[in-house]
Amino acid sequence: MNILMINGTMRKGSTYRIAKMFVERVTLSQDTVNELFLPKDMPEFCRGCGLCITQGAKKCPDYFIYLRRVTKLIDEADLLVFATPTYVYHTTGQIKALLDHYGYRWMLHRPEGSMFQKQAVCFATAAGGGMKSALKDITDSLKWWGVGRIYTYGVAIKSMSWDGVEKDVKDKIDKKVNEIMAKIVHEPEKVTPSLRARILFCLMRHMHRRALMQQIDTDSWKEKGWLGDKRPWMPESSGPEKAEPDAQPHQDDLEQEDDQEQPEIFGTAGQDFQQARGEYVQERLPLEDLMPEDMWR
Ligand SMILES: Cc1cc2nc3c(=O)[nH]c(=O)nc-3n(C[C@H](O)[C@H](O)[C@H](O)COP(=O)(O)O)c2cc1C
Repeated sequence: MNILMINGTMRKGSTYRIAKMFVERVTLSQDTVNELFLPKDMPEFCRGCGLCITQGAKKCPDYFIYLRRVTKLIDEADLLVFATPTYVYHTTGQIKALLDHYGYRWMLHRPEGSMFQKQAVCFATAAGGGMKSALKDITDSLKWWGVGRIYTYGVAIKSMSWDGVEKDVKDKIDKKVNEIMAKIVHEPEKVTPSLRARILFCLMRHMHRRALMQQIDTDSWKEKGWLGDKRPWMPESSGPEKAEPDAQPHQDDLEQEDDQEQPEIFGTAGQDFQQARGEYVQERLPLEDLMPEDMWR
């Protein structure tokens, strides 16, 4: 299983401690764990150009530098672990900034098929209150991304630091972490999406079939076969035999396909990188050219 931790702060504080405790317990020897820290790994706010929604994810001015890598990690993960402290009754601004960049993946637009068989666990801490709304900030997106199973745990630690957390609270956290751990399915192909995810999918499918949605989105649904018999969580059928579980939902997504052909840019400074960067600059920048001048400041 591939696990991705998305930390809503750079601070390895109480939230990180709890989420990490969960990750360490749930990880089996063959699993891989990646960690993202915000804002370091995605420091840009959404600029509101809407190009990801109207033209494609790669049109985002932040795609090449940050989102390409983050998106790849998200898509390859079987288990997403979000960790957010509560800031003024909500998730941190940096998590919100990340989620804003994935508006185009909401189910009414172009959801990523692999989401339906992903599991997500969201942890929030607060000194006293606001964990519920902080968690909702994240789960709103996860639900609309189509994430198959979503678990949450919010805890008031009654302290500003882990050292100040009392033993009874730590015991309670320990127990809850174990409870969530027991719910995690270790074979990703065996994850069945929740009824809510399937219902939302069916509603959106209906709207696309009735041509009530943006054309680029409906075209994507059609391309993936979702307006017909295919479902992102169902094994592909090939003739009378039952096919293997759909292990390559990304291949239906042209944008993802392109990604795989591109060189790894991080830590690489070769010709491929220069070429890819050149193409990006040519295609994506300057933003002023992509938006009318009076729309951009
Ligand atoms: C800017 C800021 C805003 C906060 N807002 C709240 C709040 O609305 N409610 C609350 O109970 N605690 C609030 N806190 C306290 C933190 O949520 C709490 O200490 C949390 O456990 C810190 O997590 P960390 O140790 O992982 O950074 C706030 C802390 C900061 C720095």
